[in-house]
Amino acid sequence: MIWSSLLAFAALTQAVPQGAGGGSTMLRFGCSQIVVDRIDPLVNPDAIPSPHMHQVIGGNAFNASIPSTDVAGLASCTSCNFADDFSNYWTANLYFKARNGSYKRVPQVPNRLLFNDKFTTQTQGGFVVYYVSDGKGKVTAFKPGFRMLVGDATARAKVGTGRKSQSCFRCYSGPNFGGDNAAPCQDAKLDTETLPSGQCLGGIRSNILYPTCWDGKNLDSPDHKSHVAYPTGGPHTFDGSTTGGACPSTHPVKIPQIMLEIVWDTTKFNNKADWPADGSQPFVLSTGDTTGYSQHGDYVFGWKGDALQKAMDGGPCQGAKCANLKVLTPDTASGCKVPSRYIENFDGWLDKLPGV
Ligand SMILES: *[C@@H]1O[C@H](CO)[C@@H](O)[C@H](O)[C@H]1NC(C)=O
Ligand SMILES: *[C@@H]1O[C@H](CO)[C@@H](O)[C@H](O)[C@H]1NC(C)=O
Repeated sequence: MIWSSLLAFAALTQAVPQGAGGGSTMLRFGCSQIVVDRIDPLVNPDAIPSPHMHQVIGGNAFNASIPSTDVAGLASCTSCNFADDFSNYWTANLYFKARNGSYKRVPQVPNRLLFNDKFTTQTQGGFVVYYVSDGKGKVTAFKPGFRMLVGDATARAKVGTGRKSQSCFRCYSGPNFGGDNAAPCQDAKLDTETLPSGQCLGGIRSNILYPTCWDGKNLDSPDHKSHVAYPTGGPHTFDGSTTGGACPSTHPVKIPQIMLEIVWDTTKFNNKADWPADGSQPFVLSTGDTTGYSQHGDYVFGWKGDALQKAMDGGPCQGAKCANLKVLTPDTASGCKVPSRYIENFDGWLDKLPGV
């Protein structure tokens, strides 16, 4: 019951639960954007440009390729709340396509206040990262060189079953994140697998959930997916089987549950006269996809030393606070940037999507 109970508890009290769940951990912290760029060191290493734009957070070792070594030793700063997290996380961007055919990137905004964590409400662009262990059995932190991918940039339709539990969108009906307090990707009404079809007056949220089981050997695999797996209980749910479900025998090692949470501020794009005349929705991912099925998340592990393992072992940690883990100020974290490797216009009104 970890997601629903912790989120519900936090929504009620806005306080950090003390030792909630007997050794369970739920890190939830913001990271500012370090760059928007058309490179992808996981799927298209060394390609400048790669096929589509990404927005990237985390450590400043991000580049067109990243050596499979200890990334924490390569980076000198991070845009994340936790000073020891030099990992990189990147996802597709969202664009608005006006009726005249021009595109404009939709800004990413800081997330709501939860666990009394002000850092996450003050990021510049970027998004929120979760690391969860449910306190039921050992959760093994990633090793230096570890990386993985969830989603498929070429997907334009449902893939298999249970996609919604790996990637979903929530349409915020009004200000203050639509009064959001339901756990992600499991609300039959609020969460959709596709981009919302109507106007979202409070913006659109995207959640991406990574697998929680590892083969225990490979730091990566050719498709960046085969070395990890979702639990045998089927697709994720957020009711404890997220991290509590049994791992398949091929992937027996339980790893932290990572979730990415992006909030797009669509409120500047609600002029109906600019929406398509045929009633379709005007938002398109940087992959060129209007369905939403191509949303994806890349991860390159880069926590320093055993900092993540300590957090997963029970910290105690909740939200953006963890015993013995140093945190940055929002200004310090937002100051961590990397230069663009491929220079192009991505934030003005554009005739076409970059690379698509
Ligand atoms: C990225 O890689 C290039 C080429 O190897 C190098 O010149 C540049 O300094 C790197 N940038 C960063 C931010 O590490
Ligand atoms: C297209 O429409 C948008 C929104 O009204 C406007 O800001 C932009 O300048 C227009 N682009 C062109 C090329 O007319």
